[in-house]
Amino acid sequence: MAKFSIKTLLFASWIALSSAHRKDSSPIKCPITLWGGVPSNATLSLFDTNASPFSPNYTKGMNLTWSSILRFPSVKPSRFDLPSDKAIEVTINDSSIFLPGGGKPQIGFRRAGLLMGNGSDASNVGVKTFHWSVRQDKEMKMNLTHEYMNVWHERNDYAGNQFSINAGVMLVQDKPTDSNVSTTGLDRRLWKILDRDNDVVWTTEIDWDGWQNFAVTLDYGNNTLQVYYSSGQESLKAVTDPLPNDNSGGGQYQIGMAKKPTETLGVVYDGFQESNIHEGQIYGGIFVEDSSGGCISK
Ligand SMILES: *[C@@H]1O[C@H](CO)[C@@H](O)[C@H](O)[C@H]1NC(C)=O
Ligand SMILES: *[C@@H]1O[C@H](CO)[C@@H](O)[C@H](O)[C@H]1NC(C)=O
Ligand SMILES: *[C@@H]1O[C@H](CO)[C@@H](O)[C@H](O)[C@H]1NC(C)=O
Ligand SMILES: *[C@@H]1O[C@H](CO)[C@@H](O)[C@H](O)[C@H]1NC(C)=O
Ligand SMILES: *[C@@H]1O[C@H](CO)[C@@H](O)[C@H](O)[C@H]1NC(C)=O
Ligand SMILES: *[C@@H]1O[C@H](CO)[C@@H](O)[C@H](O)[C@H]1NC(C)=O
Ligand SMILES: *[C@@H]1O[C@H](CO)[C@@H](O)[C@H](O)[C@H]1NC(C)=O
Ligand SMILES: *[C@@H]1O[C@H](CO)[C@@H](O)[C@H](O)[C@H]1NC(C)=O
Repeated sequence: MAKFSIKTLLFASWIALSSAHRKDSSPIKCPITLWGGVPSNATLSLFDTNASPFSPNYTKGMNLTWSSILRFPSVKPSRFDLPSDKAIEVTINDSSIFLPGGGKPQIGFRRAGLLMGNGSDASNVGVKTFHWSVRQDKEMKMNLTHEYMNVWHERNDYAGNQFSINAGVMLVQDKPTDSNVSTTGLDRRLWKILDRDNDVVWTTEIDWDGWQNFAVTLDYGNNTLQVYYSSGQESLKAVTDPLPNDNSGGGQYQIGMAKKPTETLGVVYDGFQESNIHEGQIYGGIFVEDSSGGCISK
């Protein structure tokens, strides 16, 4: 997924805000590295400015602003949102075609992804845990005939990801790189967590009614990945051991939707996308924490 993205984000004010508002009852216990909380008084136009917790410029349809792509759905905040935070919904439609700087329009995808970090920030060293919570919008469902990649840590060379969460029918193009095992037989209705080689390391059913909380710990020194999960307000539990994973190369945390085509050869520039789509994913509890010393907010 070629993409140009050199950017600097202003995290400090958000981290300060989050600390000031944090309550002892919050499950967030570890030092925050990147903070993606959306304060309840935030307006949509905030996301078009450098005051956004995410990049105002990436990764979205070429003619669209974040303030037109995002919504504030009327749902309760997730487990990892502060009492003063609210959920945010990322949407895609027929206009969600990304034009990378210096490239050509990626007409194979419909995509919109909130981007955190610049690829060489503190979330790329030590031991870090990437948190997100997601829930479904009944009015704007995914079409699981397609493959989706909705949250991922994209390598700086854009040739892959340290991890991702995918849904729908997996394309043969996304089979694990180190084996001939295909992922296409997997039930389309499952969330699938993929490692750097596109091996599926864990799956769970998509919940169409409530929040689902995910966390992935990347240990950059030991080159391991570990997955945590819970539903609703429950505490996270480890659902894998620390698994070997090549975490090198740096990358950026992206949270949104990337709908891949069907009937495709190269995925990025060809294939079939149905028309008149209106799809969304609701997110909350977006942050990266420092898990050195084994600290994981559960
Ligand atoms: C986004 O793009 C605008 C206009 O090119 C630029 O002024 C701004 O610094 C960019 N922001 C980030 C975070 O890259
Ligand atoms: C939201 O509230 C915070 C804390 O009271 C304040 O610092 C900030 O400026 C407000 N933001 C907006 C967009 O009103
Ligand atoms: C997609 O959504 C954006 C933002 O609301 C809107 O400006 C655009 O016209 C929509 N495109 C289509 C094809 O509906
Ligand atoms: C974006 O706008 C340009 C100029 O009007 C147009 O040529 C292009 O087709 C638009 N792209 C999309 C995805 O709508
Ligand atoms: C990336 O962000 C970090 C932390 O804000 C900063 O120290 C570093 O200079 C940035 N790197 C680039 C290439 O912008
Ligand atoms: C995968 O398939 C190719 C072509 O059939 C074969 O050469 C290779 O040995 C296979 N690799 C594994 C790991 O089975
Ligand atoms: C990384 O490996 C070192 C040395 O084996 C070990 O002491 C440490 O606990 C490991 N870190 C994690 C998070 O497992
Ligand atoms: C789902 O996607 C396929 C392929 O694009 C399309 O043929 C089908 O009509 C879609 N189904 C729904 C319910 O939108």
